[in-house]
Amino acid sequence: MNYKTLLLEIKDHVAIVTINRPDKLNALNAQTINDLDSVFDELKINNDVYIIIITGSGEKAFVAGADISELNKLDVVSAKEFSEKGQAVFNKIEKSDKPVIAAVNGFALGGGCELALACHIRFASETVKFGQPEVNLGIIPGYGGTQRLARLINTGRATEYILTADMIDTNEAHRIGLVNKVYPANELIENALVMANKIAAKGQQAIRYAMKSIRAVNEVSLKEGQNLEASLFALCCGTEDFKEGTSAFLEKRKPVFKNK
Ligand code: COA
Repeated sequence: MNYKTLLLEIKDHVAIVTINRPDKLNALNAQTINDLDSVFDELKINNDVYIIIITGSGEKAFVAGADISELNKLDVVSAKEFSEKGQAVFNKIEKSDKPVIAAVNGFALGGGCELALACHIRFASETVKFGQPEVNLGIIPGYGGTQRLARLINTGRATEYILTADMIDTNEAHRIGLVNKVYPANELIENALVMANKIAAKGQQAIRYAMKSIRAVNEVSLKEGQNLEASLFALCCGTEDFKEGTSAFLEKRKPVFKNK
């Protein structure tokens, strides 16, 4: 499918989704949110896709936030719908059983920071600036930022960044656990692909069950999470990949997973 505001490339089981409004620093307008919604539906049912990378077009921005020209027109009713729609799309990304890597290549502000937060792994280039500058516009983050930022980097730090609107440079983002790894800009996608290919070479049933189990950490109690883990662990042991993985180890050879 073709998207007005996204580029989609699929190769070797890895999908690269590029947000493509470089003249507006890839700001998320309603069309982009709808396109993201649709592309994740498409990738979910594409059995050839194991891993997804999201990045931004151009050298300057990952996503510089929600499109302020659209924000400016919101009233109380449309603002609630706007926030709920964005949250639903980002929840869809977070709930994807296929791992999503954010390759953050420039400004990740407002909705851009929130998009990166909804992904499962974050890589950044050396010059990235993250931030939740919404209070500068008289609003608060509305695409999950108050919740996900606080969960990821702790409540005190999230409070500081949301209330001051201060930007977070890459070194600080790495230090506080907002990004997993940092690379020079021209090596960012290459390194995201290295990780994606590494994950794509594993048995994908185990990858998806691991994703489901890890995701439960923000949703259920430790006890419920462990029950889920035990059930998913048991399901893994019913797969051909489990037989292949354990047999290959014992036979001192590399496993050939069929993802069944
Ligand atoms: N919404 C709509 N348009 C945006 C945008 C956004 N969030 N962020 C950038 N743009 C547009 C600019 O209006 C400009 O468009 P124009 O050339 O038609 O005037 C273009 O993208 C380039 O941005 P510009 O501001 O000229 O680049 P810069 O290098 O001077 O500054 C930023 C970069 C990111 C610091 C600045 O664009 C900015 O502060 N953006 C808004 C960030 C924000 O508040 N996001 C949260 C929204 S909730």
